[in-house]
Amino acid sequence: MPTLRAAGDVWLWEEDRVIPRRVLLEQVSTATGLYTMLTERVDRELLAAAPRLRVVSNMAVGLDNVDVAEARRRGIAVGHTPDVLTGTTADMAMALLLAAARRLGEGIDLVRSGGWGPFDPHLLLGRDVHGTTMGIVGRGRIGTAVAERAAGFGMRVISHSRSGGIPLPDLLREADHVVVTAALDESTRGLIAEAELRMMKPTATLVNVARGPIVDSDALVTALREGWIMAAGLDVTDPEPLPPDHPLVALPNCIVVPHLGSATHRTRAAMAGLAAANLVAGLRGEPLPAAAP
Ligand code: GLV
Ligand code: GLV
Repeated sequence: MPTLRAAGDVWLWEEDRVIPRRVLLEQVSTATGLYTMLTERVDRELLAAAPRLRVVSNMAVGLDNVDVAEARRRGIAVGHTPDVLTGTTADMAMALLLAAARRLGEGIDLVRSGGWGPFDPHLLLGRDVHGTTMGIVGRGRIGTAVAERAAGFGMRVISHSRSGGIPLPDLLREADHVVVTAALDESTRGLIAEAELRMMKPTATLVNVARGPIVDSDALVTALREGWIMAAGLDVTDPEPLPPDHPLVALPNCIVVPHLGSATHRTRAAMAGLAAANLVAGLRGEPLPAAAP
């Protein structure tokens, strides 16, 4: 905030809830810079309502909430926060993978509910992570960092992305664990749906630290219920937030956390700093430290 206040007049939505669309539209009508989070839809309507806007700075690496092409057409710079959150998000992918494959959710529930009895050699048997094959869908910065971590677990890594790797069906059939790190766009929306989940091993886990709509939620519910796959670990969901009565919440073989991929003190501070630097650079007409690709 000191960075921003030094750069100009700041209007800040201070309430601890998402800014209502109506208020946002009203505020952007005079703004030259806009600092957003993934909860704000920066679409054609919003950009049309913001005739003075020179820069949009999104405090996220994902830009699926921003119509980057339309912003460009209007000569508006767009910034995001790559790199600073890569390792932190990759850590979360490993945490969810380990938690799902080793059934930590069920173990925690059992202890909390007073159901922990004498040692039972058959209790909550899961699947190994080390020494297995990890399939990474989306081999960008975060996917690459997940692969580095997988190497430490003695895993073989296979990957699929727009720019290369193996075909998705081959990956889904071969992988013991599948981790989704791809960006959400029209080519990845619904990428993992019924047919894809049916290709996976019944012992496999699916982890999503990217964006919820890449995985078809209804198909995932059926897959987890009917044992097409063993478990899932989700940091992102569709819809998001997931209502407490959503079937994914009740499924014992599904671990859901509320979009915490980059949620460490250090990384969130770095994201905020980079987003502020992007905004200030855009207001000055300088190149952004981290411009949208
Ligand atoms: C979080 O999901 C991000 O895109 O930074
Ligand atoms: C398990 O606790 C073991 O000692 O094998």
